[in-house]
Amino acid sequence: MGQNLIHLTVNGIEMRVFVEGSGSPLLLVHGFPLNHRMWQSQIEYFKNEFTVIAPDLRGFGATEITRGTVTMKQHAEDLNMLLNELNLEERVLFCGLSMGGYIAWEFWKHFPERLRALILCDTRATSDTEEGINNRLKMVDLVLKHGPESISSSMIPNLISEASQRNHPDIAKNMIQMIESTDREGIAASQRGMAEREDYSSEIGGIQVPTLCIVGSEDQLTPPEVMKNMSTQIPNSKYTEIPGVGHMAPMEAPAEVNQEIHQFLMSCDQS
Ligand code: MLT
Repeated sequence: MGQNLIHLTVNGIEMRVFVEGSGSPLLLVHGFPLNHRMWQSQIEYFKNEFTVIAPDLRGFGATEITRGTVTMKQHAEDLNMLLNELNLEERVLFCGLSMGGYIAWEFWKHFPERLRALILCDTRATSDTEEGINNRLKMVDLVLKHGPESISSSMIPNLISEASQRNHPDIAKNMIQMIESTDREGIAASQRGMAEREDYSSEIGGIQVPTLCIVGSEDQLTPPEVMKNMSTQIPNSKYTEIPGVGHMAPMEAPAEVNQEIHQFLMSCDQS
């Protein structure tokens, strides 16, 4: 597969997806409310060895928006259809960050035959508390009334560690730009979908594929204890913590994260 930023009709919507490289398929599933560009460093690093597939999910980036609620299952179904459209029969190495991880649970549940390995960055298996759900619905109201500019800057302290904000101001700038370029209806729809997502903590013990759990040591949203505990429940799982960085570990510490993922993928090749 060559180099491409392509537009495809997938599951009834126009989807933009970055596809590049050759070799085993590595599917990069972005977090909220971002787009495939959050994986820029991973795309650059892995495209020489893998077929890197990095879509803009429904309602994000340049992919068509669905108003209302977009569930995590809907996103997983879109990804399954995307792989069909790309004629990819080989099982995928699924790498998801945060919301991308919530989608990974649904992908595993509904399309287990498509999965070769899981890489879960800064995510959790539990559903939201009542307070968490209320906060999401407040954000939906705010963003629908006042647009993504009303949430972008205030999200940064939860997403990026203080050290990263101080030492690499370009990361926050890049993220704000991604958030502000996202349509308010797309943000609202997935935010509602996350609010109603299931709790997977009692099911993840059934995951059979090799799994890597990566978390930033300063992650405020899905802290190391949460990820560590989650990792111990997945049978064939490795846990790794990246020092000094927050929720956006792949953007904040790309070299370390890429190395961890690479080592893991090499070990999957041998298993
Ligand atoms: C993300 O990074 O995708 C979000 O933090 C997910 C969430 O809001 O739970």
